[in-house]
Amino acid sequence: MRAINECKLLDVQCISNTDGSLAVIEGDVQIPFSIKRLFYIFNVNSSAVRGMHANMQSNFAMVCLAGSCKVKLYDGLNESVILLKEPNRALFIPNMIWKEMYEFTDNCVLLVISDCPYNPNEYIRNKDTYAEKNREKE
Ligand code: TYD
Repeated sequence: MRAINECKLLDVQCISNTDGSLAVIEGDVQIPFSIKRLFYIFNVNSSAVRGMHANMQSNFAMVCLAGSCKVKLYDGLNESVILLKEPNRALFIPNMIWKEMYEFTDNCVLLVISDCPYNPNEYIRNKDTYAEKNREKE
């Protein structure tokens, strides 16, 4: 069974000087997978809840580049909520974790990095089905 304690907040390498900061994410260096895809979520209504699914294959790293949002993680037994608000922190979420993103601030830009191409067939969108499937996994 995949457990939420496998999700980790990782430090992103940041090079800062008086001119500003530059953050670097390389696949298999700062995040524990090779990078195949990235997308970003922005202009989100403050009452919206995004995600609400688990992915059977994709591993993810989420970085809040601006503003803030919350990410709820659930594994079928336990849940935890992470506030993402620093562009120098990446939240690693392995596959088979249920996730919900909400309380986006108006200026929030949430970068999502993945090791898999988009495949709608790898989504589990029913929370109970997900919980059952994850609990029965060895
Ligand atoms: P969805 O996964 O529902 O977004 P969220 O988890 O943020 O609520 O995706 C929204 C739409 O975007 C849906 O029509 C599928 C499409 N989409 C792609 O075409 N490619 C992608 O890589 C992703 C993540 C979504």
